[in-house]
Amino acid sequence: MNQAMIDLICDRRSVKSYLSKPVAEELIQQIIKCGIYAPSARNKQNWHFTVITNPETIELINTLTLTGMEKLGIQKEPGYHLFYHAPVVIVMSSAIEGFSELNCGCALENMSLAAKALGLDSCIIGQTRYMYHQADVNDLNRLLKIPEGYQHDASLIIGYRQGENPEPKARRDDIVDYIR
Ligand SMILES: Cc1cc2nc3c(=O)[nH]c(=O)nc-3n(C[C@H](O)[C@H](O)[C@H](O)COP(=O)(O)O)c2cc1C
Repeated sequence: MNQAMIDLICDRRSVKSYLSKPVAEELIQQIIKCGIYAPSARNKQNWHFTVITNPETIELINTLTLTGMEKLGIQKEPGYHLFYHAPVVIVMSSAIEGFSELNCGCALENMSLAAKALGLDSCIIGQTRYMYHQADVNDLNRLLKIPEGYQHDASLIIGYRQGENPEPKARRDDIVDYIR
């Protein structure tokens, strides 16, 4: 049995503080490969990955999203950064059709675990959806290179962790039933 894989899954945390150290292109490519090796319903692979390392674009998405959240009355503490200053943001989108969001979820977790295996950390960011409350969908999709007929699902930030790996949050104990 490969206990290392189990340990890696259980040690993965959503990390919310990063060093400014960039992530090597080769590591990013390995992480993307693990994303595209995720399963997808009927092998449709109907997902799209936009890998952003351009700091101006990362800041633009941060600003648009926070403004969109503000419009909806979602308050964040001063200085809150949507991406916790991580140097890599992968914006995931999928075809508007059955199961595609689930497929994206599989890819996101694969990439998150791959990052961990490579000595990096990550966090899924669902809040990027709020950017559409501030900017036009067509403009945003063009900026983010999201293909026609696809919509943004969630993002993944990746980088080198600042500080310790967070303690795991308590897991609910009322969510499994067995029929034996
Ligand atoms: C679909 C999804 C969306 C999430 N969106 C955010 C987010 O926008 N911002 C954030 O800080 N964390 C986000 N998270 C991370 C969760 O807060 C985190 O997974 C949860 O608290 C459990 O912690 P753990 O991942 O360290 O076990 C998201 C996680 C998932 C699966």
